[in-house]
Amino acid sequence: MVDALGVAVVGFGWMGRVHTQAYARVRHHYPQLALRPELITVAEEVPGRAEEAAAQFGFVSTARDWREVAADPRVRAVSITAPNFLHREIGVAMAEAGKHIWIEKPVGLGAEDARAVADAVARAGVQGAVGFNYRNAPAVEAARELIASGEIGAVTHVRVRMFSDYAAHPEGALTWRYERERGGSGVLGDLASHGADLARFLLGDIASLTADTAVFLPERARPAGATAGHSRAAGGELGPVENEDYVNCLLRFASGARGVLEACRVSVGEQNNYGFEVHGTSGAVFWDFRRMNELGVSRGTAYQDQPVSTVYVGPGDGEFGAFQPGAANAMGYDDLKVIEAYRFLRSVAEGVPYGATVGDAVHSAVALEAMARSAERGDWVTVDGPGVL
Ligand SMILES: NC(=O)c1ccc[n+]([C@@H]2O[C@H](COP(=O)([O-])OP(=O)(O)OC[C@H]3O[C@@H](n4cnc5c(N)ncnc54)[C@H](O)[C@@H]3O)[C@@H](O)[C@H]2O)c1
Repeated sequence: MVDALGVAVVGFGWMGRVHTQAYARVRHHYPQLALRPELITVAEEVPGRAEEAAAQFGFVSTARDWREVAADPRVRAVSITAPNFLHREIGVAMAEAGKHIWIEKPVGLGAEDARAVADAVARAGVQGAVGFNYRNAPAVEAARELIASGEIGAVTHVRVRMFSDYAAHPEGALTWRYERERGGSGVLGDLASHGADLARFLLGDIASLTADTAVFLPERARPAGATAGHSRAAGGELGPVENEDYVNCLLRFASGARGVLEACRVSVGEQNNYGFEVHGTSGAVFWDFRRMNELGVSRGTAYQDQPVSTVYVGPGDGEFGAFQPGAANAMGYDDLKVIEAYRFLRSVAEGVPYGATVGDAVHSAVALEAMARSAERGDWVTVDGPGVL
């Protein structure tokens, strides 16, 4: 028996579109899902954007104000894909209205916002999924299992990198992303939030850290009109960039393992260079998002000169089998969001969380705040472990 679940999307920029496409595709890949998402409404503040989305994807109604979505009894689950400064207000209101939420990272402007959303979700007894999509990659799940099974020995250290050029162009518009009030932190919330989640997903809790941050492009041009994603604003009036372009962080894990997390949004020559290298006493495992379905694996008893093999993930790894029949048929970024939609809807159907939750977003946000504090003070900062929630 398959029940319909009315869903809404708030904010129809890049992520709003990707969430909508994931709802549309999820049952193609997961016919066993007990729920069938129905696109009820899309809320957007830019005139015309919601109507275009409805015409393209079949939402039955549109809204200019997200509060209409909170009050709409047809809507039982909501994707919150608006800018960071709205996450807390919308997330709390939707949970309090009894709606399950699938909210984008970093869940607000800081840890206090993420906690407020997590508390509201817990109080309301609804599901709260978060867009930490990189942990959904079958190769990342395979790496986690490989590490947990002891195949590379005891983990000694990890390097997590999140390098992008999306903000490297000098004409890149001064959007909400570069303002403290609407974006919160810069590359910390944007990319290092994923990096901190990946580090914890693979190696467990971060115990302490020390970090350094920098702004490399201190001014940008104000856009003349509405923006989506990473728009350009050549010739616009210049305004200050209020948050960091770069972070470099040393990590100590509760397990005793050490790590480095480096993230930058203005790295010319780097397009989505996201990945990790995890080393253990007898092996190592490497992942690069740009070759998402491959792992580099070194294991054995040679220690020195031990070869590294390329392993293509296949139907036995994570959710790969829901997309491709055999190893080395490529999956892409949007497929990670289909997996996220599946886990969210399964959580709703079964009343048990699957996949990343707002609790995981609190852990990530606490680590990011520790990075910001350390960068300010220049010392090591303790990151609360399991008691963080
Ligand atoms: N998981 C990922 O890989 C990933 C990637 C990119 C962005 N994100 C996150 O997704 C969120 C959105 O990012 P984006 O890149 O889609 O941004 P975007 O600027 O492309 O889209 C945001 C949309 O929200 C709309 N909006 C603003 N205020 C609104 C309001 N009051 N009501 C309704 N709509 C409103 C804007 O008009 C815009 O269309 C951010 O929190 C970001 O951190 C996650």
